[in-house]
Amino acid sequence: MLDQRQIDIAAIHQATGIYTAVPEIEALLDQLGWPEQGRRLLDPGAGNGGFLVAALRRLDLDVDDVEEAARRVHGYEFYREAVADARRAVSAHLRERGWGSPAARRAANEIVEDHDFLLSPVPVGIWDVIAANPPYWRLANLPAGYRIDYEAVVAAHARADLLYAYLDRSADVVTRDGHIGLITADRWLLNSGSSELRRRLGTRYCVAGVRRLDAASTFYRPKARRKGTVARVHPVSLILTPTRSGRPLGAEPFRLAPSPAVDGVPLRDIAQIRLAPWLGPDGIFIVGPNSGLPAEHLVPVAEPADINAGTLRPPRKWALATDTTAPPPAILAHLDATLHRMPNRGRRPVRWLPPETFTGKLPLNHDAVLVPRIARRLTGIRLPAGRLPINHGLVVISGLPVARILAMLDDPHVQAQANDLALGIDNGYRSFTATLLRQLVIPRQHLPEHPAS
Ligand SMILES: C[S@@+](CC[C@H](N)C(=O)[O-])C[C@H]1O[C@@H](n2cnc3c(N)ncnc32)[C@H](O)[C@@H]1O
Repeated sequence: MLDQRQIDIAAIHQATGIYTAVPEIEALLDQLGWPEQGRRLLDPGAGNGGFLVAALRRLDLDVDDVEEAARRVHGYEFYREAVADARRAVSAHLRERGWGSPAARRAANEIVEDHDFLLSPVPVGIWDVIAANPPYWRLANLPAGYRIDYEAVVAAHARADLLYAYLDRSADVVTRDGHIGLITADRWLLNSGSSELRRRLGTRYCVAGVRRLDAASTFYRPKARRKGTVARVHPVSLILTPTRSGRPLGAEPFRLAPSPAVDGVPLRDIAQIRLAPWLGPDGIFIVGPNSGLPAEHLVPVAEPADINAGTLRPPRKWALATDTTAPPPAILAHLDATLHRMPNRGRRPVRWLPPETFTGKLPLNHDAVLVPRIARRLTGIRLPAGRLPINHGLVVISGLPVARILAMLDDPHVQAQANDLALGIDNGYRSFTATLLRQLVIPRQHLPEHPAS
């Protein structure tokens, strides 16, 4: 028998359970810099576990390490069927990674907690990343029994909508230096009824990385639910950052288009933008100058440490270039002697293939531009043909003449967009992800057909 609280929760879930499509989840995790810039992540309204699985997928976990998986990623959900869905999704993901069923199940049970994020106590100061698509539903719509408890617990400035209560509680719960990544309706940024909430959040946070999203492609309803279009909301994705790198938030409405709209086209429409591959720790697929391995199987690499004052130093390391055909015995012997140091996430069924395959895609046979992901300002650096960029700290832009790409990145309108979109990290550094670069609108005078450039 369902008690009245379960019936109320089912009604709230029915109204608020609108799930996020994977590409938007991935883009939000990119913007949050998870996991490079995060230790522990919470989704406070986990639904069917989409955020949790995406966050786990990015972690280098040992097989069956339940404790570590549950320490790094956690989700709250109060609707039992959704809890079961999320646990199934987490468990299936871990089994795909080679975990045994009992460990996968235990981890899923610990990671997805059947718990009310608003009305029940939650630990404070242990999660430094909150990633959420919070429920939104007005106070007046809440089932009567739930509403009584809700009004008793939630502060007046956060009471008018479940969304406000979620934002307020997230700010209370996250660590002092933590980030909150949100996919939400834009109303709380603009409404007068949320001005006190904005003012309070603004004493701790700036807003970075605001992007308008398309409701039709961002959200979907759980399968078993009634058909129909998603609610008519104007969704945005943004990061609340405790650093000063974003735009200030205050009682006044937060308008979404701060800089004058740039007349141009997104960089993704005119150039190729890709993250440099990760090839594992040094000494396996990446070797020094005196490896003695056959030179025709080695490619000089470029990594973040090779960048000095805006230029690239001569290569100091080389990558083994292997493809699906078996490499010569010297390379196999080298790999057999070193592959035991490869973390699990880098292991491939074909042992001579690196964690992320690059042959056929990189290195490029023409010059391109490297963008360091972590930098004080968006900066491009010439990457000569034949040099392989490695490491997720680098993004490569290609497909246009280098001088043209460098001029685009230097344009003040492009710099301003990059600063608005980038998540601030400590000491004035920002994170310029591949997702961010793809969105930058390049003013027309830089476009290939424009004679002046
Ligand atoms: C908008 S959905 C988002 C789900 C998932 N994070 C996603 O984006 O795909 C919000 C979820 O929060 C849950 N929820 C609402 N209020 C809650 C509360 N007070 N405590 C825990 N979960 C809650 C709902 O049941 C729903 O599944």
